[in-house]
Amino acid sequence: MGAGPTQARSHGLTDQTLELLPRDWRVQPVRHPIGRHVRSCYERLFTGRAAPAAGLPIHRGKALAALLNYPLELLNDIPDRLWEHFLPCGNPLPYLQPKGGERILNLGSGIGIDSLALVQRSAPDIHVVNVDVVTEALVLSRNLTRQEKTAFRAFEARLSWVCAEGDLLPFHPDSFDWVLMNGVFNLFPDKVRLLSQVFRSLKVDGGLVIMDLGVSGELPEYFAEERDGWAWCMSGACTRPQLMLLMESAGFRVELFEEGDPADLLYPMGLVARKISCADGSVSG
Ligand SMILES: C[S@@+](CC[C@H](N)C(=O)[O-])C[C@H]1O[C@@H](n2cnc3c(N)ncnc32)[C@H](O)[C@@H]1O
Repeated sequence: MGAGPTQARSHGLTDQTLELLPRDWRVQPVRHPIGRHVRSCYERLFTGRAAPAAGLPIHRGKALAALLNYPLELLNDIPDRLWEHFLPCGNPLPYLQPKGGERILNLGSGIGIDSLALVQRSAPDIHVVNVDVVTEALVLSRNLTRQEKTAFRAFEARLSWVCAEGDLLPFHPDSFDWVLMNGVFNLFPDKVRLLSQVFRSLKVDGGLVIMDLGVSGELPEYFAEERDGWAWCMSGACTRPQLMLLMESAGFRVELFEEGDPADLLYPMGLVARKISCADGSVSG
């Protein structure tokens, strides 16, 4: 099934104020078999049919959030049972500081903990749109926002939820000031296509923040075939030069690149880039 705005609306997960492309937008995603597998892994995970990261030596949840210095108010307010669905590759908050009135796309938002942190810590009139291909993740995210006894309810009007494919975004050009992908970029086999969608959705000068795994050299060949390796951000990891080339070719200028220990084959990395060229090919600034 296509994951356009029709699907998004049928789940009642969009906000009427959100400017989605019109209903006759019928382009179907070219779904790669790896993309299908990644989606089904996360569907199983968010519906509780699979233990997250079963058998893999992956840190996750509240312990990981504490390790990454996520704000204490989040650590205290989010119920324990939901933490197991938190699967970030890093903490983007130091890199992403939206100004008043700005609109942020959290692409592959999962249960939306980064989005809650952003609305909690930023100017009162920012708006965060959570996009995920798995409806159940968005439902968990929206329910979390509506929970009694937390401060999150006050932020509901500043959040939206849209079910869509990351490489087929249903937004008008220049809709966002920021795009965040936390543990998401590496899931896509066709990164040129993904970045072209992000580029179109961002305003000129808009910021792209990617938290993911980088790779220090060529991954052993079996990684490419290892579909669970794709779902856990490993098989799709890029080397630093590959990333720089991808960003530049897609019309972004990389402003910051931070990497963990490049002596490790796979290491955590954070990247901030800016959209520098316009849709007609002219360059801003
Ligand atoms: C590793 S999790 C990260 C979730 C979230 N960013 C976090 O920090 O907890 C990857 C997320 O990407 C979503 N995802 C997978 N494939 C996607 C696609 N093609 N389009 C949009 N989201 C996708 C998954 O459903 C999942 O929520």
